[in-house]
Amino acid sequence: MAERIAEEKINEIREAVDIADVIGDYVQLKKQGRNYFGLCPFHGENSPSFSVSPDKQIYHCFGCGAGGNVFSFLMEIEGFSFQEAAIKLAERTNVQLDFDASATLRKKAIPEHFRQMVEAHELLRKFYHHLLVNTDEGQNALEYLTKRGFSKESIEKFQIGYALPSWEFVSNLLQKRGFSPEQMEKAGLIIQRERDDSYFDRFRNRIMFPIYDHQGNTIAFSGRALGDDEPKYLNSPETPIFNKSKILYRFNQARAAIRKQQHIVLFEGFADVIAADRAGVENGVATMGTSLTSEHITVLKKNAQTVTICYDSDNAGIEAAHRAALMLQEAGLIVKVAKMPDGLDPDDYIQTYGEEKFRNEVIHSSLTLMAFKLLYYRRGKNLQNEGDRLQYIEEVVDEIGRLDKAVERDFYLRQLADEFSLSLGALQQQLSQTARQKQPKTEERRSAPEMNTIPTPVIRQGTLKPAHYEAERRLISHMLRDSEVAYKVHEMLQGQTLNVDEHQAIITYLLGFYEKGHEPDLNGFLNYLEDNKLKRIVADIGMMTINEELSDQELNDYIKQVLKHQKMLKIKAKELEQKEAERQSDYLRAAAIAMEIIQLRKSL
Ligand code: UTP
Ligand code: MN
Repeated sequence: MAERIAEEKINEIREAVDIADVIGDYVQLKKQGRNYFGLCPFHGENSPSFSVSPDKQIYHCFGCGAGGNVFSFLMEIEGFSFQEAAIKLAERTNVQLDFDASATLRKKAIPEHFRQMVEAHELLRKFYHHLLVNTDEGQNALEYLTKRGFSKESIEKFQIGYALPSWEFVSNLLQKRGFSPEQMEKAGLIIQRERDDSYFDRFRNRIMFPIYDHQGNTIAFSGRALGDDEPKYLNSPETPIFNKSKILYRFNQARAAIRKQQHIVLFEGFADVIAADRAGVENGVATMGTSLTSEHITVLKKNAQTVTICYDSDNAGIEAAHRAALMLQEAGLIVKVAKMPDGLDPDDYIQTYGEEKFRNEVIHSSLTLMAFKLLYYRRGKNLQNEGDRLQYIEEVVDEIGRLDKAVERDFYLRQLADEFSLSLGALQQQLSQTARQKQPKTEERRSAPEMNTIPTPVIRQGTLKPAHYEAERRLISHMLRDSEVAYKVHEMLQGQTLNVDEHQAIITYLLGFYEKGHEPDLNGFLNYLEDNKLKRIVADIGMMTINEELSDQELNDYIKQVLKHQKMLKIKAKELEQKEAERQSDYLRAAAIAMEIIQLRKSL
């Protein structure tokens, strides 16, 4: 990315953007006093230690130490560079940049030599969409979609299109626009004939669903037949820019909603994602007609705590849901499974029962994993039959034995006892037997999800900090507000440094910042700093409430604390030296050192 954004533009963006607004896309924020609070998106936690100050336009997490301004927030959460974060914010605030920034942003993920492939996909996406919504040729397809309940808004939002029933239209169009046929074939858009090496279109007479990568580049298509043609969905093949086992359909668009709710709804089909979106489920994604891979799970896990599986409720769908559920659980995610009447898929359900019922009775009433397993083991069994019944009980007891919490185990055991009129004692005995047989494995399973729920705070709140540490933070806090104070502190330190290395680094940068003619400006200084760790500390200090006025008395006290600590360190070093001298029976030297120590103590 060659373009640099001028400082005036950055300032314009800063003026226009509100940090609480931007963070609000990712975190559920509650106002409390002057600040907002929420669950930190950077580490798993159950009670909010993440705060946002709209006055200061900074954020800070007391749990994990994350912190900074709106630019660093986007850099951390989206993995953006500073420039990319600025582009994103410019888009949001309608600040005009003098280059096509959004394209720059999207192209980033694609290596230079594959850009042509993406460009061809972008061109065709627009072309197919235009054919569907604006032309007579697309009329038939549009009617088909309308009949299936696709709204105009969905067609727009998902950029659905139509491919003509022509063998050469796209292949000619691409060549006319200067795309190389060899590359277009590698991109999966056209296919070479054996007989004369000419090319023909892969997608003909199909409803076209564009597929985006997680940055929003169009990288593939899936084309649905209008009637009963086979295959029902024709997909782009694996190409250098399209990897099915990594891509989740509409992840890019859903990311903000997913982060905010910490919840993903996982579907099997595109049609399901789109219908659910119409029903207000904006955090839905789908795999690309493949089963869930560990690569998908990595993406899911990075973005949410809970996954609700909402697969077709036919046999294959339930089996797939079971497999996916086990993988997700293994990865430490909270798993829920949505349940629909037999044989329906989510799209059918919404068509039949409506959007509201889908939200309330399918998504919001989804089963816990255990409840799903109970249903799962019941399938194909006749519980009136003794053999089936015993097998069922054994399978369920085994599952109960895998639960983490004693209360949960007790709950399901009682439920089982009630249902089959068994004595609780007998079930408990069975449970301890299975547990003994499986011990090593059970232990492994139990520890995995637990580890995940424990937050790993870097700085624990309420940890007592030594006096010099607090004094340095207060000094920096005042120095951030007033450049006069900054210079004064610098002078008073007389060439000594602060005790905490990061604090010293911060004041060095801060003095540099003022030297360059900047006014005191916490937010601007956060942009000026490049080191992430320093940004976090500055945001943390920025969050402190301090007296506006700084008396000479107070200032002197802080400086004294800082210097005192240094003398204390020196005394400790001297004491060691003294001991060493004594050990070597060098009593003269030991006495000299003792004198030095006395002098140092006096000066404290
Ligand atoms: P389904 O057969 O359940 O289709 O396939 P669907 O989602 O209900 O679609 P409609 O409602 O009939 O239009 C689920 C997913 O499996 C993949 C697609 O990704 C589809 O969304 N699939 C299915 C294919 O890739 N090829 C096929 O031929 C069929
Ligand atoms: Mn369907």
